[in-house]
Amino acid sequence: MNSYKILKRQVFSKDNYAIVPIRMQDRFDIMQWRNEQMYHLRQNKPLTEDDQNLYFERVVAKLFEQDQPEQILFSYLENEKCIGYGGLVHINWIDKHAEISFIMATKLEANHFEQHWQTYLSLIEQVAFKDLGLHKIYTYAFDLRPHLYKAFEASGFKKEAVLKEHGRFNDTFIDVILHSKFSPYYLRNASPEDTLSIYEWANDPATRQNSFVYDKVKLEEHKNWFKTKLKQPEADYYMGFYQNIKSGFVRFDMEDEISVIGINISPEQRGKGLSNVFLNLGIKLHLAKYKQQQIHAYIKPENEASKKAFTKAGFRFFSKEIIKNQNALLYKYE
Ligand SMILES: CC(C)(COP(=O)(O)OP(=O)(O)OC[C@H]1O[C@@H](n2cnc3c(N)ncnc32)[C@H](O)[C@@H]1OP(=O)(O)O)[C@@H](O)C(=O)NCCC(=O)NCCS
Repeated sequence: MNSYKILKRQVFSKDNYAIVPIRMQDRFDIMQWRNEQMYHLRQNKPLTEDDQNLYFERVVAKLFEQDQPEQILFSYLENEKCIGYGGLVHINWIDKHAEISFIMATKLEANHFEQHWQTYLSLIEQVAFKDLGLHKIYTYAFDLRPHLYKAFEASGFKKEAVLKEHGRFNDTFIDVILHSKFSPYYLRNASPEDTLSIYEWANDPATRQNSFVYDKVKLEEHKNWFKTKLKQPEADYYMGFYQNIKSGFVRFDMEDEISVIGINISPEQRGKGLSNVFLNLGIKLHLAKYKQQQIHAYIKPENEASKKAFTKAGFRFFSKEIIKNQNALLYKYE
């Protein structure tokens, strides 16, 4: 299977459907669908097999290895059979947005159009928001297929703009409609205003049990510790938000080339899969600033949720260690 360097996970699935890095073997099906649906695509002549081979060799093959590809393309599968393709295109890595593209096998359009659009959008959203940490995704559609908008709106996309006479169709100029959706996840640098939230989460019984220091944290000590940490260049701390609610704290404490990571999810927000997202996004921010760092996590052997969360985020068990006289598992980010 092809694999994108930029993605931590390669396969995103829901029931019988999945998106996987675009497969060479699907290129002629894709060519056929594109040719059948040329009227709504930015394509002005039918593709030939040679065109398609060239495109896969010259453009697609390079995307897998790039640190910041301009597009990420997927085959859309039903039980392993390709029934569509699409991706994130015109990715803007600075402003963190991307356009969504998708077409399905032409014969499915009559009866399954909305269903496949909605399934596909839910999968591509996971790539964009949970793995890549993009802020906004949008669709750009020639105003020719009004039934598309129902699928967008049912998936939480909102109509954002009408670009007047922005596309040309059969020698007339037609409108282009933009629908967009914003990420519910957001990380910013931790700041003094987070002092009390972090204190409360730190004293939650599950946190104390999973920490290598059992005693309750005292407020004055916590305030001093946090104030000092925020000033230290070796500390890189983030506050994570979900739907605008403060939901988790991710910290990196650096010593030479090793960064030790810790995470604490607000007790009310646990069990919703946020640890995976905040670990992914936190690591991206940390490594963007400190490129050479290796990231280590120390986890108590009985902390099953933490082991799963770190494994899913790309960590692997490395060794058994003793921390403050207690058993610890060292996991390393790969
Ligand atoms: C550990 C912690 C970070 C996990 O975060 P979370 O957002 O609650 O966990 P998620 O919802 O992302 O779940 C992570 C995985 O653990 C599983 N899980 C959750 N609670 C679990 C439990 N009590 N036992 C076993 N598995 C559990 C989930 O099903 C999920 O697995 P999946 O991805 O295979 O579905 C969070 O519970 C926490 O902050 N705990 C207190 C502090 C702590 O332990 N920090 C880590 C120190 S190393």
